[in-house]
Amino acid sequence: MSGPKIAIVIYSMYGHIAKMAEAVKKGIESEGGHATILQVAETLPEDILTKMHAPPKPEYPVAAPADLLEYDGYLFGIATRFGGFPAQFKAFWDASGQLWQSGHLAGKFAGAFVATGGPGGGQESTYFSILTTFVHHGLVFVPLGYKYTSDLWNSNFSEIRGGSPFGAGTFAGDGTRQPSEVELETASIQGREFFKLVKRSHAN
Ligand SMILES: Cc1cc2nc3c(=O)[nH]c(=O)nc-3n(C[C@H](O)[C@H](O)[C@H](O)COP(=O)(O)O)c2cc1C
Repeated sequence: MSGPKIAIVIYSMYGHIAKMAEAVKKGIESEGGHATILQVAETLPEDILTKMHAPPKPEYPVAAPADLLEYDGYLFGIATRFGGFPAQFKAFWDASGQLWQSGHLAGKFAGAFVATGGPGGGQESTYFSILTTFVHHGLVFVPLGYKYTSDLWNSNFSEIRGGSPFGAGTFAGDGTRQPSEVELETASIQGREFFKLVKRSHAN
């Protein structure tokens, strides 16, 4: 297989981020790209997960930081906790010291997509919370911007939607709300444009 490989690395408790990840993957594949969805390890004990009514995890392989070495770009799917990224991702990154020391991620591209309960729940602050980790690893943050979503978003205030120029986003509400068509389309656009950027850089 030629061309860059993208890892979509997620933490999803109730499945919203997993759904968004599939849409991101579709966007990458629409450009002939290859993407693999991985998840970070759960850190909460089983009894707490039961109390939180967490369904079984999706089937994606569990990633260790060293797995990132196999890929050329990364899109992180993050379920927001208290306006920032969850401890499960923190545990993943806190085990990445060797990668940091070797500088293997430096200069590679990374973007993110998020899920919150609702608007004002911290989609943008979740991006800010991951930036220090990206910066320390030398990862180049790739925002979604407005260029490819303005037709989809512009003046459409008739429906509620997650997402921002930082990246795609969805609202889970009480858990029963599912990612909307616009949110999934935004996720696909993000995947497609991210892949195109990595491919351009890969060719040089
Ligand atoms: C401990 C905890 C903290 C949370 N903190 C926030 C928050 O700060 N803002 C928010 O809008 N939603 C918050 N939520 C809701 C989650 O972000 C939401 O359930 C999740 O993004 C849905 O994605 P998932 O289905 O992929 O797990 C929180 C949920 C939990 C369990």
